[in-house]
Amino acid sequence: MEKLIVHGGAPLKGVVDISGSKNSSLPILAATLLTRDTCTIRRVPDLSDTNYMVRILGELGAEVERASGVVVVKAENVASVAPYDLVRKMRASICVLGPLTGRLRQCTVSLPGGCVIGDRPVDLHLKGLEALGAEIKVDGGDISVDATQNFRGGPMNLMGKSGSTVLGTGNVMMAATLAKGITSIEGAAAEPEVEDLANFLIKMGAKIEGAGTNTITIEGVDQLHGAEHTVIPDRIEAGTFLCAGAMMGEGITLRRVNAAHMQTVLDALRQCGFTLTLGRDTISIAPNPSAKGFDLTTLCYPGFPTDMQAQFCALACAIGDTSTITETIFPQRFMHIAEMKRMGAQVDLEGATAKIRGGHPIKGAPVMASDLRASAALVLAGLLSQGKTEVNRLYHIDRGYEHLDDKLASLGAKVERMRE
Ligand code: UD1
Repeated sequence: MEKLIVHGGAPLKGVVDISGSKNSSLPILAATLLTRDTCTIRRVPDLSDTNYMVRILGELGAEVERASGVVVVKAENVASVAPYDLVRKMRASICVLGPLTGRLRQCTVSLPGGCVIGDRPVDLHLKGLEALGAEIKVDGGDISVDATQNFRGGPMNLMGKSGSTVLGTGNVMMAATLAKGITSIEGAAAEPEVEDLANFLIKMGAKIEGAGTNTITIEGVDQLHGAEHTVIPDRIEAGTFLCAGAMMGEGITLRRVNAAHMQTVLDALRQCGFTLTLGRDTISIAPNPSAKGFDLTTLCYPGFPTDMQAQFCALACAIGDTSTITETIFPQRFMHIAEMKRMGAQVDLEGATAKIRGGHPIKGAPVMASDLRASAALVLAGLLSQGKTEVNRLYHIDRGYEHLDDKLASLGAKVERMRE
């Protein structure tokens, strides 16, 4: 295992290129299983999660080639069983369920487990597939889908008690592209990654309207064909670098970003008093030593993203004011708080609300990464701290941030990757 050593206090300055979106790449790679033809996906970030999805496609029988951000998939024949050994390492493996159902009508996909941010049910994915006429059995840790008898479009509402489901919407949308008739999904997730997936499916010949809103309509077609697609920029990676710029920047610029996907995060930074300058595909952030605290609540898109909650907790430590942040999507997603407290951060956690009194010095310490975004927050806290922070279990970061250490170093951060 590797760890990241962060020597705090170095100012950040310069330009950084944002990678393609992890959360778009994963379902889009899975969607290539819907056709026998060749699909070419560009700007796929080099991450352990995307590598793992490429491996799953290969194990399911697809021919896959990958070179510098371009993944070419030809899934002439596809196996109908994705066993536990194949899917257990990555929860997002569940996004092969929709394509396998659409293409084969019958499949077995092992249930992914929970993770530290919550128990992560898939009931809404299954509810949607049932609304398409599939019979579903969950037994021995496996989901078995049989849609051989009555696979057809239909109405459904996928709104859950914590809001809409991103991968659930993607799964049902992928299956519905090949179900006869009209599918109408109310309570659909409106996240840009769902819209990106829909745009790829439309290039493959699918008929989809409303992606990017809470109502998506799909008219089933007999088959899909190969297509080429470039994945959208990663709005969470971009938001993480903006936090770094706000905390330690002397002026940093993000390149190859889409500000339209980041309005709530940009508004939150502006309300704190940071100045943002937007170009065609760039965002620059200037520091503000008298920035104000924030009061944020995570919500489904276009609300403030849960995937930025941990990084804003780190940002709050740098602002000489009190900030609060309430988590509504994954109320247990606060593993970073205990680690940040070990660094001296002044944080109280009441239920699903973190109250952070910032502006006090924090000190470097060995800390344990628990999940992807929590790890990013610990790296940000390390940049701010006095002395040396060791972020252990770096593999969490490598799941979702492409070359984070190199990118931070290019901005002037003092970071080094070492073996634990
Ligand atoms: C995706 C993102 C993840 C992000 C999350 C919320 C990917 C690969 N991951 O995860 O980074 O944090 O969206 O924006 O895109 N739920 C149910 N039943 C279900 C499915 C979900 O109750 O069947 C609940 C979840 O427990 C959670 C909420 O719905 O409270 C949102 O989860 P969901 O949008 O499904 O998350 P993912 O798609 O897994």
